[in-house]
Amino acid sequence: MSEHPFETAGQQHQRRSWAEPWKIKVVEPLRVTSPAERQRALAEAGYNTFLLRSEDVYIDLLTDSGTSAMSDRQWAGMMLGDEAYAGSDNFYHLEAAVREHYSYKWVVPTHQGRGAEHLISRAAIEPGQFVPGNMYFTTTRLHQELAGGTFVDVIIDAAHDATNRHPFKGNIDLAKLEALIRREGAAKVAYVSLAATVNMAGGQPVSMENVRSVRALCDRYGVRLYLDATRAVENAFFIQEREPGYANMAVKAILHEFCSHTDGAWMSAKKDSLVNIGGWLAVNDADLFEQLGNMAVVYEGLHTYGGMAGRDMEALAIGITESVQDDYIRARIGQVRYLGEILTGWGIPIVEPVGGHAIFLDAKRFYPSITQDQFPAQTLAAQLYLDSGVRSMERGVVSAGRDPATGDHRYPKLELTRLTIPRRVYTQAHMDVVAESVRAVWETRDGTEGLRMVFEPRYLRFFQARFEPA
Ligand SMILES: Cc1ncc(COP(=O)(O)O)c(C=O)c1O
Repeated sequence: MSEHPFETAGQQHQRRSWAEPWKIKVVEPLRVTSPAERQRALAEAGYNTFLLRSEDVYIDLLTDSGTSAMSDRQWAGMMLGDEAYAGSDNFYHLEAAVREHYSYKWVVPTHQGRGAEHLISRAAIEPGQFVPGNMYFTTTRLHQELAGGTFVDVIIDAAHDATNRHPFKGNIDLAKLEALIRREGAAKVAYVSLAATVNMAGGQPVSMENVRSVRALCDRYGVRLYLDATRAVENAFFIQEREPGYANMAVKAILHEFCSHTDGAWMSAKKDSLVNIGGWLAVNDADLFEQLGNMAVVYEGLHTYGGMAGRDMEALAIGITESVQDDYIRARIGQVRYLGEILTGWGIPIVEPVGGHAIFLDAKRFYPSITQDQFPAQTLAAQLYLDSGVRSMERGVVSAGRDPATGDHRYPKLELTRLTIPRRVYTQAHMDVVAESVRAVWETRDGTEGLRMVFEPRYLRFFQARFEPA
């Protein structure tokens, strides 16, 4: 704690304070619940924060997906929705924004990220092929597996260690990638699946140097490189902040350069792009684009709306432009970091360095005596909700699911509870309330008991599984 109780956050870090580059025009009331109400709600939800009703939640840090506050410009843009079935004006605005900021030539709109993952996985993976990537993501890996592929983790080892302070923990380990290509042969590698930033590692970035080297390696073996661009703007901010040579380059220019090293990307626009729904898939190969556009009409909607309304595409086109502004992205990541700095200052174990979209509590260090079979991160999310009504989510053994070959739980090294910060939604005071709740749970952690799973769905179990106290 500061020895000067009246210092601002900036003063505590020996700098001038900065603030969000926007002011609030519309507000939404929040409801504070009693401990008894929360106990009942959590039991009804099977101790799974995904199954809580949002009216029972006070500060909602379940996800940053689709939870952003849109700007007045985006809401105004929604009134310009051209709801023509085919060739909507808004699609062409979206296409232009993706081309300008993400560099790709051909754009297929999709209803959200997993719609795009479905299309690229079916188009680019042949059964029996391998898909190397920088740590799995739940929906991404599932679509790769459903297309007959096998995901292989080729992220650097530092990413699996919550305490390792490597500045680019999302990097691909080039030796691991090359060893896989040599062992299996380039023809058995569908493509390299690169995520920026890496969600499951704690929102950790990939350096420009790394994407350049991966590109060169892929070129040597004739392997394609596709990007999960869901949080690539946040990744660009970290490159500007940490990588030599980029301090004076605008985030939007860094983003463009980063994407230009890849052959295409899929996008959950519900994150970086400041909208509540939407996604896209974009590639440079015209033949692949034809194929993807044709699949879009089967699974998503026409190739000029892909499951989105015209108004959604307009909000998205405007959101892309707002998301790449330097002052916006600094404030966004600054807020996440503010919460992280309070927690580390109190000695509470989190993934370090703090990443782009969330604080990840290290549940193994909260509850060293709860084994992964009793779901420490799920337990921690439940305890946090009981304490204050703050909703977080599990990113550990439940999210990792089962190995399709053996049917056993996959036991990830990282057992984390994610406090995900929606964009432009909460204030610094909300972050203080969250920090105090985490501290209360930390200070009363001794004697906490784990959970047992009493219902397990087949796919993406973390969304719908139910638990009881062990
Ligand atoms: C890194 C990453 N990729 C893909 C997705 C899937 O996107 P969506 O939730 O829009 O289907 C998500 C979102 O959960 C994500 O975080």
